[in-house]
Amino acid sequence: TTPLIFDTDPGVDDAQAIAIALAHSEIELLGMTTTYGNVDIETATTNALLLAELADQRIPVAQGAAAPLVKLKHPAPAHIHGDNGLGNHPLPTPSHRAETISAPQFIVEQVNARPGEVTLVAVGPLGNLAAALQLDPGIIDRVKQVVVMGGSIREGGNVTPVAEANIFNDPHAAARVLTAGWPLTLVGLDATHRCVLGPAQMDKIAAAQGKLGEVLAGSYAFYRAFYRTALDIDGCCPHDSCALAWLMRPELFTTVRGHLNVVTEGDAEGQTLFAPQERAFIDPRWARTPLVDVCMNAEGEAVVDWIVETLT
Ligand code: BDR
Ligand code: CA
Repeated sequence: TTPLIFDTDPGVDDAQAIAIALAHSEIELLGMTTTYGNVDIETATTNALLLAELADQRIPVAQGAAAPLVKLKHPAPAHIHGDNGLGNHPLPTPSHRAETISAPQFIVEQVNARPGEVTLVAVGPLGNLAAALQLDPGIIDRVKQVVVMGGSIREGGNVTPVAEANIFNDPHAAARVLTAGWPLTLVGLDATHRCVLGPAQMDKIAAAQGKLGEVLAGSYAFYRAFYRTALDIDGCCPHDSCALAWLMRPELFTTVRGHLNVVTEGDAEGQTLFAPQERAFIDPRWARTPLVDVCMNAEGEAVVDWIVETLT
């Protein structure tokens, strides 16, 4: 099994990914760490606690970043995920509370307790991972691997013409995390935009997921309306689930090794820039950042089938 920490800002597509992490027999979910992003930090934590409870699982949740490291916080995009992050579907109050330690502390403790074993999957802005690195840079050598849903190389952005939301929401944190020198894979829009979960597939998942499924159904309805009006797509891109799909089924993705940089200022803030390893010699400055793996493509239908299979 794969022991992992899921760092998240739930969020409709986060909620689906959480359902996968809870359901998959080969994933051992050590805990969830929360960040602001799709919603404010308190809502993110409440949602993470609630989603685990709806699946009848008691998973530690540690609260983290309330704002970006450097830039000013933008208001959460309520038109995409709803005010409550889950499509404004009415939600009960969770009965458990978050851990007393913070998200970065939780990450550091768990990674150090099992050197070489723990995978970090981050699907929101990257402040928690950046803070964990600052707290204990030793985790760079002790983590098994880091998988980040974020960024866009050739696909263009989804919040600005060039920037993807998770990177844009905290570019300074992203720059630290993506160039820290730990084994890292970036699953960005080049892969996630190849994957479209259709209405019938959403219904199937919702029907199979019990109490959690009811919340997924309500949140899908809202997310679907956003995709229809904003993007003219009937369905949605399961961005955050793609990070888990890469982890469990990497053969469904085209992954390229190279050097990554993040633009932190100006009109292109939040853009991820990538030079494949064999092209870096053209300008040696590019070789200054450590090598990472970047997903450039995905077999969309097969990824979506994997998501549906895992949740039904
Ligand atoms: C990412 O941004 C958020 O809105 C989603 O949850 C996902 O993590 C996609 O750009
Ligand atoms: Ca997310």
